[in-house]
Amino acid sequence: LLNQDTYLVNGELKKWEGQTSAVFSTISSTEKYEPTILGSIPFMGEKEAMEAVEAASKAYNNGQGLWPTMKVVDRIKCMENFVTQMKTTRTEVVKLLMWEIGKSLGDSEKEFDRTVEYIYDTIDSLKELNSRSSHFSKVQGINAMVRRGPLGVVLCLGPYNYPLNETFSLLIPALIMGNPVIFKPAKHGVLLISPLLEAFRSSFPAGAINIVYGRGREVASPIMKSGKVDILALIGNSKSAIALQDQHPNKNRLRLVLGLEAKNPAIILPDADLDLTIQECIAGSLSFNGQRCTALKVLYVHESIADEFNKRFAAKVDALSFGNPWDKSVFLTPLPEKEKPAYIQELIDDATSKGAKIINKKGGEHTENYIFPAVLFPINKEMRLYHEEQFGPVVPILSFKDIQEPLNDMAESNYGQQVSLFGKDIKTIAPLIDTLVNLVCRVNLNSSCQRGPDVFPFTGRKDSAVGTLSIHDALRSFSIRTFVASKDN
Ligand code: G3H
Repeated sequence: LLNQDTYLVNGELKKWEGQTSAVFSTISSTEKYEPTILGSIPFMGEKEAMEAVEAASKAYNNGQGLWPTMKVVDRIKCMENFVTQMKTTRTEVVKLLMWEIGKSLGDSEKEFDRTVEYIYDTIDSLKELNSRSSHFSKVQGINAMVRRGPLGVVLCLGPYNYPLNETFSLLIPALIMGNPVIFKPAKHGVLLISPLLEAFRSSFPAGAINIVYGRGREVASPIMKSGKVDILALIGNSKSAIALQDQHPNKNRLRLVLGLEAKNPAIILPDADLDLTIQECIAGSLSFNGQRCTALKVLYVHESIADEFNKRFAAKVDALSFGNPWDKSVFLTPLPEKEKPAYIQELIDDATSKGAKIINKKGGEHTENYIFPAVLFPINKEMRLYHEEQFGPVVPILSFKDIQEPLNDMAESNYGQQVSLFGKDIKTIAPLIDTLVNLVCRVNLNSSCQRGPDVFPFTGRKDSAVGTLSIHDALRSFSIRTFVASKDN
């Protein structure tokens, strides 16, 4: 059992003596996949939330604190020190990623390594940004020396599916730009922060990074209500993002960096290479059990190839293996959210009661607290699965006659992150791309949707995102451009 009884506030690792809440895992060496207790975390409340707010505000000190005024080269040194220490925690963090969220060994290692790389790339990007911004430029007799400065206190809330990598894609740029951060880990993937606490404490000045635990309403809400948060940085759902914004007493002062829901479609044209398309759609819709914001969450197949696509896709899904994340032959792993199988079942029941069929043999089979991916066809607008972001193992398929049908659906959708387009004829594809880029932010040709490589801009239209995450853009999202102007006399 790992009892996480330490939190970080004002540069001090404090022992928690109060109530704790249990951290469960659905992984089990007995292969029963029943929820087992992994450890515990502090169940914090307003008092600790306020301690963190005070520490971060003091560290910022209206822009005059040690961290926001520190030279960029010195902030970079702090970050280099952190990442050097972080690298020594790889084995432990990878193990916790598997146990806490059920991510496969390969993907857990990838998440860790990608995060380390993200930090180094951020450092390089800041060096480049800094060298460019320190230049003078002269316009109409005025010299301007432009630079980028911090904005204030950041509340950072990451998602459970990438508790390290995506959380750090907010936390690292926020911190390195001179903003003090209050970080509350997600409900799953919280124990894996333990091995990193000492690295955080020893690398940054007091109050620059504060780490507290607990439920959103007990911890994040009082932090927002204090009015001392300048940036809300969240990856999660819009409902929480809106509720938290509403709690801030002065919303005009609040900057948002948000990664929210998506319902990325795949559009499969009649001339698509079916082997490649099926392979990409399996990975796109079901890697990490579909628990990725970039997952393909609805497939549009041209009616002329729908029968063949459905048959072959369903057979491939049935051939996917399920088991513990450390078993390298396994593709599907237990779900960390114990309520997820019931939710997926509701979506399946709703769709089948309105005319859809489960087209794969194993679809919807329950293995203890897991539900085997169901492939459902044909989906229509009356069904919840058409509208809701399932974020789990179920694949809805629609067929279309005219390309305008999926385009209209995308235009009406509340989301606009990415799309995958499968086809060969460039004369058909080229004009389509011109339309698709106005509906989403990334068009993936003959490949599934994904966030990386992390240097690419990662954002979305409509309810899918506010601000841009990626190495370069995130540095801009967490800073403001200021300049000194002097006249030629
Ligand atoms: O859950 C949302 C993540 O941004 C997905 O990232 O495409 O690298 O798996 P990924």
